[in-house]
Amino acid sequence: MTRDVDAAVAVLRAGGLVGLPTETVYGLAAHARNPKAVRRVFTVKGRPPTHPLIVHLPDVSHVARWAATVPDTLGPLAAALWPGPLTVVVRAGPDVMAEITGGRDTVALRVPAHPLALEVLGRLDDGVAAPSANRFGGVSPTTAAHVVADLGDDVDLVLDGGPCAVGVESTIVDLGGARPEVLRTGAVSASQLSSLLGAEVVTWSGDGDARAPGMLASHYAPHAAVLVIDEIGAAGVVTRRIPEVGAVAVLASTTGQLDAVRAALAGFDDRLVDLEPVGDADGFAHELYDRLRQVDRLGCAAVIVVAPPPEGIGVAVRDRLTRAAAGE
Ligand code: TXA
Ligand code: MG
Repeated sequence: MTRDVDAAVAVLRAGGLVGLPTETVYGLAAHARNPKAVRRVFTVKGRPPTHPLIVHLPDVSHVARWAATVPDTLGPLAAALWPGPLTVVVRAGPDVMAEITGGRDTVALRVPAHPLALEVLGRLDDGVAAPSANRFGGVSPTTAAHVVADLGDDVDLVLDGGPCAVGVESTIVDLGGARPEVLRTGAVSASQLSSLLGAEVVTWSGDGDARAPGMLASHYAPHAAVLVIDEIGAAGVVTRRIPEVGAVAVLASTTGQLDAVRAALAGFDDRLVDLEPVGDADGFAHELYDRLRQVDRLGCAAVIVVAPPPEGIGVAVRDRLTRAAAGE
């Protein structure tokens, strides 16, 4: 782990892989014009080659180097939200490698809001392809230590930019079709996009894998079983899904919720492990992946999660929890 931006740029230029901090999660970065380096990203992650990568850019002026045409909808979104947790899918230009697009005719682009990432990208003056820096299907990393724990020597350098400010992956909006469509929820909401564009932006509700390959039903999953409940009154309904042996962690926004879960699961009291409450939806997003990792470090058989309300970034937190729970 280092804070040495020069060293990170040198590794990328030489075709190596860098653990790159962004405001959402840490990325496993490769120079986006180097096919060998990009192929190594897939090997290290254990990711199927058909799952496309996001190209990270130093600023909006770089979009024209990657897109076949720059859609009119990009202007207002980039002006308001870049650098920031928004990824746009646009028609790919002829030079974009198939390794990045997974053979599709579109490419995903974003300008991340992290000072170290922007410094690296600015010095490189080019794009960096980066999926989340975890093994395929696992929990995304939100600290440099998470990246080291997941990837060890498979990553050449990890740039330590501190804990990620947002904590869940970027919102992905497809601007390549007849009307903009959200393919993955994140800190930027569909209604925010709608008001910036002055037109309704819908959220793709069908098979995520068809539109954004890699958005599998089972994803972001710790080893422990994830049992999601919406309201405390429902805590009792998970009792039959609690494994017969082992500790059961409880993740919630407030200590009041933790107490209520304990009351609803009286028979399991001696097996419950309270995790530090995460606070509001922003806190939930910020702490989620670290808490899920903690559950595995503690060797818990399961974690019961009281989901935040589906408002703001709470929508994205609930999406990730659903996918983590599908990993059972
Ligand atoms: O916040 C983020 O987006 C983080 C940080 C590192 O920037 N990156 C990230 O990458 O979450 P990854 O690879 O874990 O997820 C990328 C998602 C996948 O679901 C992929 O299918 C989608 O982006 N994607 C990439 N290119 C696409 C394309 N051309 N069309 C549709 N979806 C695409
Ligand atoms: Mg990922």
